[in-house]
Amino acid sequence: MLITDMGFVSGQELKIRAKPSDDCNSFSINIGHDADNIALHFNPRFDLNGVTDTIVINCKSGGSWGEEQREENFPFTCGEESKFYINYNMECFYIKLPDGSMIDFPNRLGDVKYDYFRVDGMAQFIGFKMQ
Ligand code: GAL
Repeated sequence: MLITDMGFVSGQELKIRAKPSDDCNSFSINIGHDADNIALHFNPRFDLNGVTDTIVINCKSGGSWGEEQREENFPFTCGEESKFYINYNMECFYIKLPDGSMIDFPNRLGDVKYDYFRVDGMAQFIGFKMQ
């Protein structure tokens, strides 16, 4: 699922609803400018490349991945719809996970408007709300 005119600006909150498939190994939410410039790659991995039940977060600039951040709190379940929330400012992304806990990740691209939004992997994207 790809949106190229998202118009997600700093200060807005994005509520995302997604349902990992019953046999989901991984899915990701990507927010940025294009496929090579992603400010937020949010990647819950159920079981991928030897990584289990871990949220991998990263950014990509000019086609190169940055330094990964990994979170061991993993409030996602295969086959179950999950809701999470993302907002950001020039410095940081703030993600509220389905269990209500918060994680943050530096906004390394440092921009305040992102138009590219892509959901990848084994999850059904149910919808989003921007407010
Ligand atoms: C890679 C993976 C990418 C992305 C990246 C994040 O290993 O192939 O899809 O998740 O890690 O650092």
